[in-house]
Amino acid sequence: FTSNSLSGLDVVITAGPTREAIDPVRFISNHSSGKMGYALAEAARDAGARVTIISGPVRLDAPEKVTVIQVESASEMLAASLEQQKNCDIFIAAAAVADYRPLQVAQQKIKKAGEQMQIALVKNPDIVATIATLDTPPFVVGFAAETQDVATYARGKLESKNLKMIIANDVSNADIGFNSDSNSVTVFWGENQQDFPRMSKSALSNELIELIAHQYTVNSNP
Ligand code: PMT
Repeated sequence: FTSNSLSGLDVVITAGPTREAIDPVRFISNHSSGKMGYALAEAARDAGARVTIISGPVRLDAPEKVTVIQVESASEMLAASLEQQKNCDIFIAAAAVADYRPLQVAQQKIKKAGEQMQIALVKNPDIVATIATLDTPPFVVGFAAETQDVATYARGKLESKNLKMIIANDVSNADIGFNSDSNSVTVFWGENQQDFPRMSKSALSNELIELIAHQYTVNSNP
């Protein structure tokens, strides 16, 4: 599969989980494998774009002819995103960023003590919303991972995060979404929506990139 729909454009994609350190040996994270973000990167590359992935820790090889910037935490992902958006036409946020991080990172391994322990958490910056509210933002596409009321929450994030498009995942179904090789999504933009049935993340990415490329063109030439 190749097309020229993104020829000459720079695309930045966040992918994978973030890791939020608790102490030198422990962290908070999630089940994102990076497969969705990396598949989108390959599809964007095949459509003619120069592609950079800002990647949390994953077990995937860098796709050929794609630049991969490795990060760990949400703060590092934000810093890399702010840097990369300077040279970016389309920014796609497929990463599963931790919403909270430990308030304090212990310098030494925390010792086992009482029957219960508590870790105070503090909110992480919202990366995709930060990029989308810059003075001259790229065309920003987000994801929404939801387990209920998918359309309502996705439309809410589309608006509150100032996104041009949002790709909604029902992650209550283990066959799609986190870590699986296939996915089924609904994309929302403006008053529109389009459903994509379950297929491989690779095939889905080709279709999503064509839709994103089309909307990018419409947006750039109103
Ligand atoms: O990596 P895989 O195993 O292939 O799984 C793919 C996926 C399920 C992780 C992916 O398809 C997906 O849905 N990614 C978004 C996961 C997520 O964190 O969704 P959310 O609804 O919590 O966040 C909404 C959007 O805001 C996302 O674009 C997210 O990247 C972004 N975000 C969230 C929090 C934050 N602090 N910064 C962000 O940029």
